[in-house]
Order: sequence, then C-alpha cells, then structure tokens
Amino acid sequence: MSSFSNEVLGKYVSSINRFKSELEKPFIGRGEEALVITLALMTSEHVVLIGEPGTAKSALARRAADLLRARFFKYLLTKYTEPDELFGSLDILAFKVGKYVRVTKNKLPEAEIAFLDEIFNASSAILNTLLTLLNERVIYDGYNEISVPLWTLISASNTVPEEQEYQALYDRFLFRQFVKPVSEDKWLQLVEASWKIEKEGYRAPQPVLSMEDLKYINSMILSIDVSKVKHTLIKMYAVLEDQGIHLTDRRKGKVLKTIAAHALLNGRTTAVEEDLAVLKYVAPSTREEAEKVYIILLEELGTRERLMSELQEIEDNLREVKALLLKTKDFDPRLVEYLRGLEKARERINRIIESTTDDNIRARSQDILAELTEVIDEVRRRLLV
Ligand SMILES: Nc1ncnc2c1ncn2[C@@H]1O[C@H](COP(=O)(O)OP(=O)(O)O)[C@@H](O)[C@H]1O
Ligand SMILES: [Mg+2]
Repeated sequence: MSSFSNEVLGKYVSSINRFKSELEKPFIGRGEEALVITLALMTSEHVVLIGEPGTAKSALARRAADLLRARFFKYLLTKYTEPDELFGSLDILAFKVGKYVRVTKNKLPEAEIAFLDEIFNASSAILNTLLTLLNERVIYDGYNEISVPLWTLISASNTVPEEQEYQALYDRFLFRQFVKPVSEDKWLQLVEASWKIEKEGYRAPQPVLSMEDLKYINSMILSIDVSKVKHTLIKMYAVLEDQGIHLTDRRKGKVLKTIAAHALLNGRTTAVEEDLAVLKYVAPSTREEAEKVYIILLEELGTRERLMSELQEIEDNLREVKALLLKTKDFDPRLVEYLRGLEKARERINRIIESTTDDNIRARSQDILAELTEVIDEVRRRLLV
C-alpha cells in the first residue's frame, strides 16, 4: 500500500520525468543512457557508462550534475592520480599537534553526486578507499572513519575492466550501460545537433531537482508493490544463469528496488512485468552479454516493443482489408477469411487493453479497436452475416 497521496505521487513522478527528458534533450539517441542515470539517482546506486570515446558519456554526466541542485565533485583519473587529489590532503597544522585529518573541502568526501571519468585507471591506494566509500559511504584512512554524503557516483570508461583487481569495484556499479555510437539513420540529426552547439555554445541548464527531492523519491520506491513480479524475477534469474549470465548475490538482491524505481518513473505504485526490463542495465557484465540479455528479455517478457510490433501488424492487416473494401463494392470471397482474422485481432486487442499498464499502448489499442469494429461491421454487412 502506498503511503502518499495521488497528488504527491503526480508531483514527484512529473519532476523525475522532467529531469530525465531534460538530461536527454541536447543529445541524439541517448534516451537509454538518460534512463539509466535517472534510475541510479532514484535508487541511490552507482552507474558506469562504457563505450568508445566521443559518445557523449562525459557530457551526459556533466549535464546530470547541472540538472541537480547538489554538491558535485568531478575528476578524470589517470594511472598517476594520487589519493589526495580525490580525498583531500593531510591537514599539516593539525598533524603538527598530533592529529591526522584530511582537508576534504570540495573533494569527493563532501560530494553528494560525483563523476569520475576513466574510473578503471584508479591506482590500488585509490581503489581500496573507493570500495568502502561506494559500499558503506564511509572513508577509513587508517585513523579516522568519515561518513560521506555520496548519493550516486556516475562513472565513465572506454572499456570493461578485465583485471581481477578491478572486479570488486566494477561490481559496485549496479547500473552499467554500454553506450553505442549513434546509428546511421540518426547521423543527420547528430550533425545538426553538433552544429547547433558550435553556433550557440553549450548552455548549462537550470537545476530541476534537489537532493531533498531525490531523497523523497527514493523513499517512495519502498512503497511500491512488487509482489506481482517477484516470482517472475526469480524465473528470469534462472533463465539468465542458464544462458551463462551470472549476477552476483549483491546484484540479485538489489534488482527489486530498481524494478520498483522503474514502476514509479512510469507513474505506477505497482510493479508489472515490463518493469523487469531494468535487468538490461543490471545483469550484463560485457557488451556481448548486454546484447544477449536484450534478446532474452524480449522473448521472456511481454515488453512494450513486442506489443507495439503486434499492434503494428494488426494495423497493417486492417489497412489491407480497408483497401479491399474500397475496391470492391459488394461480396468478395476473400472477406470470409478476413473476417475470421479480424475477429481474432479484436479479441487480442481487448486482452491487451485489459492487461497493459502503458497509457500509450492502451490509447493506440483503443484507436485500433474502434477502427477494427467499424471494419468488422462493414464486412459482416457485405457477407450478410
Ligand atoms: N549522441 C550525441 N548527441 C549529440 N552530441 C554528441 C553525441 N555524442 C557526442 N556528442 C558531442 O561530442 C562531444 C564529446 O563527447 P564526450 O562527452 O566528451 O564523449 P566521451 O566522454 O564519451 O568521450 C559532446 O560534448 C557532444 O557535443
Ligand atoms: Mg569522456
């Protein structure tokens, strides 16, 4: 049961969706990346974008920070980056009187949102500190334990880390998105978008969300009813393991919360099967696995894409029958066959309308249903049935 009013629900759902669409706005083909970053922020998890240089990874992370009213830290890591550059250096005056404290002002320990570019360049000294920072939100420097306010770390890397020493760090990124270069059909848009930026410059947007908003949204996630999808999720874990895609126990445990976040983002207080689509961003460890998971989800879940292509097919058939009705003024033997198909399609559409939670799919189904009913009536009239 949800513990907030519809009004409150509506307000936060629209502000988090506004964040997502503002994030995506200047980019071409970066809708999924915007979605993954939004989900990470809603769940207070960490996200890594993996892809070749020049695919707007850094630009997306920077824009996400611009859209949030939050304390932000960003840094580009190289093999030679020293821990002090991220965590702050030793306070010399304090050290002289026997105290060991770091000056953390404007450094990672004070950040609510951070962006670390080329994260898998981290040296082992940095790596160790990062592991507890990401997991427990504390920094232990040998003398003191400092609690840190880090909410979400956004990272970017050109490749998946292969070295064993980075696997623990890699596992701490619940969300991993494999960024692809813009596909050929969008090259013109890409060129035009870049032209616009060259001409007008990049303008930092006004923040649309505060940390308080994010924290409230995060608390709403726990009120989402996930009882309907729990068992399907367990089944999906088995399917994925069968296909050689392994989630660590940490990840298996956390998926439910990302499913709930996806439901909330779509304005629902109950999670449904299509919310399991988030597995696409949590299950794969490599680009190859990401392709595999995508196919598995399409096959296993009644996803939006599948429904949309089914509706498209029904519409195409409908158009064909309409064309025939226009051509012939009276009886045509093919109409008998068509009538059967149309009636089947109508049953199917009714079932989709009953079960879908997607407003777009429902609206489109209702439009098709109206048209379908009209055509069925006309065919029946011609067949005198
Ligand atoms: N999909 C895209 N849509 C619009 N601009 C893009 C896109 N991909 C890259 N760019 C442009 O290229 C620039 C370089 O991207 P950048 O964020 O530095 O890439 P990366 O961090 O992946 O190496 C961006 O600032 C942006 O202007
Ligand atoms: Mg970059």
